Amino acid sequence: MPHCKICKTDFASFIDFGPMPIANAFLPSGEDDGYRFSMQVGFCPECYMVQLVEQPEPERMFHENYAYFSSISTVMQDHFEQFGSDVRGKLQGKDPFVVEVGSNDGIMLRHFADAGIRHLGIEPSSNVAEAARQRGVNTLCAFFDQDVGRRIRKEYGPVDAVIAANVFCHIPTMPAVIEGFAEMLSDEGVVVFEDPYLGDIVNKTSFDQIYDEHVFYYSVLSVSEMFSRHGFELVDVEPQDVHGGSMRYTLVRKGCRQPSSAVARYRKLERDLKLDVSATYGSFGSKVEAIGRDLTAQLTKFKAEGKRVAGYGATSKSTTVIHSFGLTPDLVEYISDTTPSKHDTLSPGGRIPVVPYERFQADPPDVALLFAWNHAKEIMAKEEAFTRAGGQWLLYVPEVRLLP
Ligand code: SAH
Ligand code: TMP
Ligand code: ZN
Repeated sequence: MPHCKICKTDFASFIDFGPMPIANAFLPSGEDDGYRFSMQVGFCPECYMVQLVEQPEPERMFHENYAYFSSISTVMQDHFEQFGSDVRGKLQGKDPFVVEVGSNDGIMLRHFADAGIRHLGIEPSSNVAEAARQRGVNTLCAFFDQDVGRRIRKEYGPVDAVIAANVFCHIPTMPAVIEGFAEMLSDEGVVVFEDPYLGDIVNKTSFDQIYDEHVFYYSVLSVSEMFSRHGFELVDVEPQDVHGGSMRYTLVRKGCRQPSSAVARYRKLERDLKLDVSATYGSFGSKVEAIGRDLTAQLTKFKAEGKRVAGYGATSKSTTVIHSFGLTPDLVEYISDTTPSKHDTLSPGGRIPVVPYERFQADPPDVALLFAWNHAKEIMAKEEAFTRAGGQWLLYVPEVRLLP
């Protein structure tokens, strides 16, 4: 029986998505290595952690050709400028030292670098790490683990703040990572991180947040349990309006600080939402199946009507949609994306051609299937001309619907 990566309890239930390729493996035609893993989500009844049962080895996902450059989105640039400034406002003492885990192309740490604050980014994907260095961000190319934490403390002294975004959800060995924080943080040090929020995933049935890289789907209940096993206490939570709904968590060593009222409020909200009950995940699975039926029916109808459909945004999320529902170029002609490294590739598993954004402008479809729905505001504003010319948007979260 597979068990929880945090507390070793047997899982109470599963959702099975079937065999999946690596979500970010955008490869030129003919280069599909045929790799698949069995994507199942388990719920732990003991520590409430929702997690992938099986995950590909990290080196398969994070490497010198990592496809995701954080700074591709201007909304995320603004978001991380604000995140950085919130953290800077809380730093105490002189000459503080900040470590970011998963610093990618330096989207957040660049603001610390610009302000002359001592900082270090830990980033295993060498291509994005190099982009950060080019911007003056000190970056160590490594997977963060307990040993890296120990080395940082030895080389730089105590760390005042560990910051991270959209990366703890990627790390299967979080218990060891938290031990690393315990080794390198100062007595008053803080951990501030944010990740897609389980409450939003369940509320919106945003099942496409589930893919190989996302091993954990955090809630206030599970984050508090996970850190408490290593001497940390959750003292604040703040919802964030990015990536379809995220939560920012602040943790300190136990007894350092009184938790804010938001922590208790969210614990209650999550129990009311039944995030701590196994049956919730069974009904989530049924909702995903219904979305799959509706989406396939809608796309088949468009095809019968002679309407052309193209995907907008070759997101990692799109891989879950394409594979769990078996979408093919027959139904979705191409996917346009602004990321140069994704151009002239096939979506993972060799399904649908990914083309430069210019193609969408020069050869617009009748309907755009919005895979990058988390950037909807930014994209819809940018594509006003498409909508004005009669173009429609097809969304599938929280349910299948057409705009306008
Ligand atoms: N923080 C950025 C990047 C998120 S993508 C943002 O929010 O936009 C996740 C990043 O974490 C990738 O760049 C990946 O290479 C990195 N990563 C994955 N495992 C890691 C680990 N164990 N330690 C540090 N970084 C890791
Ligand atoms: P994300 O959902 O993981 O943030 O990835 C967003 C993807 O969508 C990324 O590959 C870039 C692409 N994209 C566009 O093509 N056009 C846009 O305007 C935006 C915001 C993103
Ligand atoms: Zn558990």
